[in-house]
Amino acid sequence: AQSERDQLYKIHEVAQSFFQEQLHETEEGRLIGLSYFKERGLPDDIIRKFQLGYSPEKKNAFTEYALEKGYSKEIIEKSGLSVFPENASYGIDRFRERVIFPIHSFSGRVLGFGGRILKNNAKAAKYLNSPETEIYHKSNVLYGLNFSKQAISKQNLCLLVEGYMDVIALHQNGIQNVVSSSGTALTTEQIKLIKRLTENVTILFDGDAAGIKASFRSIDMLLSEGMNIRIVLFPDGDDPDSFSGKHPQEYVEQYIAEQARDFIDFKAEVLLQEANTDPIRKGEAIRDIVKSVACVPNALKQEIYLKEVSSRFGLSEQSLFNELGLQKQVQQ
Ligand code: GTP
Ligand code: MN
Ligand code: MN
Ligand code: MN
Ligand code: MN
Repeated sequence: AQSERDQLYKIHEVAQSFFQEQLHETEEGRLIGLSYFKERGLPDDIIRKFQLGYSPEKKNAFTEYALEKGYSKEIIEKSGLSVFPENASYGIDRFRERVIFPIHSFSGRVLGFGGRILKNNAKAAKYLNSPETEIYHKSNVLYGLNFSKQAISKQNLCLLVEGYMDVIALHQNGIQNVVSSSGTALTTEQIKLIKRLTENVTILFDGDAAGIKASFRSIDMLLSEGMNIRIVLFPDGDDPDSFSGKHPQEYVEQYIAEQARDFIDFKAEVLLQEANTDPIRKGEAIRDIVKSVACVPNALKQEIYLKEVSSRFGLSEQSLFNELGLQKQVQQ
């Protein structure tokens, strides 16, 4: 007999084909889903490559399909693709009237889905994702890794973005060494997946307050795993997707190469701008930078970074080393 995990893998394959067929082979899917992707500038080959799909408006379209295919209520429910309310005689699809992004494992198996709403409706979440299941552990998965792993190895560099569409848009523009943590805070497990391929990461987060905040968290996580990192900030209002849509590959590559800065420069600019000339806030900004340096596991690298902080702010290395010692105590 098939194990429960095998059945879960299988039902995700079935669901992926179902959503893909809905997108390409039904009038509703073409009218609503396919035209949405086209409006966002995605050509057919990219839509096929990323196995994008559409979940119909009807509230039990997938549930019915899966039941007809012989899947038990129990497995359908465990897949997270449907819920069966207590007193109802039917199941309800998790994804309805959304465009669908299959989420793959490192080796390319479908583990879950992200679904984007079509109308920007303030009441509903923009993206809805599969829940944690026996086969989908969000903290262990990076969106796009299966499509990007060769390019990451070959270029010895991984670009890290925030969203599904950022990964897809960069691929479409010929930039293929890119993954996304898709809305969840970057985890140690995710970094270890990247580390199998490269130790170099460039963070490309959205040019807004949320993007900067997320980048700060990611910086410390990546430094803690011993990764070499650089950060690129996009113009306010742009994300890698929108930026990539406006410029040819060479321009985007050049922008990334020219704008990429080390975390000391990046944090200094962001934090000192906030601190203005207030000496107390300036002190906090420097402490915040030293906090990141304290994450670095290699003592030699730590010293090199501290010397940089020292020369940049005109502070003695001794006082920075003292601060570093304090920060390390806090982190232990
Ligand atoms: P588009 O508007 O389609 O271009 O999406 P985006 O990727 O630019 O969205 P945004 O920058 O707002 O968010 C980045 C990522 O966070 C998305 O790709 C999603 O993975 C995730 N995210 C955004 N909104 C939501 C939400 O409402 N719920 C959940 N669970 N995740 C979200
Ligand atoms: Mn498990
Ligand atoms: Mn954003
Ligand atoms: Mn975005
Ligand atoms: Mn976007």
